[in-house]
Amino acid sequence: MADNTPLKSLPAWQALEAHYEKVSKLHLRGLFAADPARGEKLALEAAGIYFDYSKHRVTEETIGLLADLAESAGLREKIEDMFTGEKINVTEGRAVLHTALRAPKNATIVVDGENVVPHVHAVLEKMAGFAEKVRGEHWKGYTGKPIRNIVNIGIGGSDLGPVMAYEALKSYSHRGLTFRFVSNVDGTDFAEAVTDLDPAETLFIVASKTFTTQETMTNAETARDWALKALKDKAAIAKHFVAVSTNAARVSEFGIDTENMFGFWDWVGGRYSMFSAIGLSTMIAIGPKHFQEMLDGAHEMDEHYRTAPFERNLPALMGLLGIWYNNFFNAQAIAVLPYEQYLKRFPAYLQQMTMESNGKRVTTDGRDVDYQTSQIYWGEPGTNGQHSFYQLIHQGTKLIPCDFIAFAKTRHKLGRHHDLLMANVFAQAEALAFGKTAAELKAEGVKDWLIPHKTFEGNRPSTTMLLDELTPAALGRLVALYEHSVFTQGMIWQIGPFDQWGVELGKVLAGRIAPELEAAAEPELNHDSSTNALIRRYRQHRH
Ligand code: F6P
Repeated sequence: MADNTPLKSLPAWQALEAHYEKVSKLHLRGLFAADPARGEKLALEAAGIYFDYSKHRVTEETIGLLADLAESAGLREKIEDMFTGEKINVTEGRAVLHTALRAPKNATIVVDGENVVPHVHAVLEKMAGFAEKVRGEHWKGYTGKPIRNIVNIGIGGSDLGPVMAYEALKSYSHRGLTFRFVSNVDGTDFAEAVTDLDPAETLFIVASKTFTTQETMTNAETARDWALKALKDKAAIAKHFVAVSTNAARVSEFGIDTENMFGFWDWVGGRYSMFSAIGLSTMIAIGPKHFQEMLDGAHEMDEHYRTAPFERNLPALMGLLGIWYNNFFNAQAIAVLPYEQYLKRFPAYLQQMTMESNGKRVTTDGRDVDYQTSQIYWGEPGTNGQHSFYQLIHQGTKLIPCDFIAFAKTRHKLGRHHDLLMANVFAQAEALAFGKTAAELKAEGVKDWLIPHKTFEGNRPSTTMLLDELTPAALGRLVALYEHSVFTQGMIWQIGPFDQWGVELGKVLAGRIAPELEAAAEPELNHDSSTNALIRRYRQHRH
């Protein structure tokens, strides 16, 4: 396909439009009744993930047509371009190589004439050396006490990945160490994170790709003041602060010795960086061996994505199913529902990965799109969501495809808990798909006037992903699955998933407003009348 062929003019797109007219009228009840083997036929297993997509409003023909769309959108070539270091982040002129972060030592991936893989492994080794020192109490604080608390200061990709991975793999973590994550510029975040910590036992990891992010730098400066207030000597910084960044100059300007800096590269996007040095807190928590297992899991998914035919390719299929609902059924959202308490931050992590990537309204060559792009991703762990927003998913007016994520084994065998948890996830997918008809309710003796309220129309789609156990490798596979699903969608929508210009305007305006709030004398305000009034009111009321 020529890159600038408008998406909706592709014959494969038009075939899907025509196909939608037929399939949208089908009910999952009918589809399952017509084919007793459907539940096994429309399921795949790859890289340790059993992926049941039978409860989607698709036929085998739909999957074929979606795969045709991926082919005619040039997805195959685009995957190769990404994996081989082409500068596919067009507006920033960068390669996109988070896959290189988990490539084996003997791989060769060339960017600007240089194989980046040895650099990746050199940083991993440096991280491992440091992580072992902290874990083994060999890295001492300024007063000679061992480090017991690790505080990661970062925001966006420099926070969400680390906190998600720490929470997900807590059962593998070093229990003698306390981990905290500070992201918000709201001082409460920092204050509460350190309230019970001893500065002499606390290590700050300042994680920022650019080392210019206002929130992170403000928190880092506050952390430096907090540490120096207790430790009293600037020399203490070297023992209590390390940095993860691509910007060595800014790191040393801040006062952190670049010896204590863990680098990465401009070809790692912030929201794709949890496998880079940004994962330093994760590595300290779970140890280098488990960190490597996580990388290996992600690499396994990378290889699957790169090689499997699209009909049998989990990330491609996941992305294409998203397009099917987003662009043909006009569904606006996807609920991510992990039935695993350890994945409680996974939906928040995915929100940045998906929406900062594909929340775009122009194509890479600058045309307005005339179709919807990224869905809204949201979710909570099961079963909590069931007692909260699931009502809307079951009986509301919106179509919300769901991603259920569950594990056959629990990390905590406690009585009936896990069987009950799993009973719930299977039940939810079943209820959404098949619902409950008026006839069934009548047969149960439900009074006529109550029947409309108790009817579940069903036909509400979901994927159920069943994995063996939440191991570091499983987490790596899951993250890579979503990363590549996002890529699949971005390529088909012809947008650039790897920049984020949409976050800039707010940053610039905040930079303009901050001095107006801080000025001693009443500032002259030249905003709109609403913003002016809010600023004036805040200045009057803040004390
Ligand atoms: O403002 C958005 C963003 O640029 C994200 O893309 C990024 O993950 C986050 O800010 C943090 O950036 P940094 O790691 O450079 O501090």
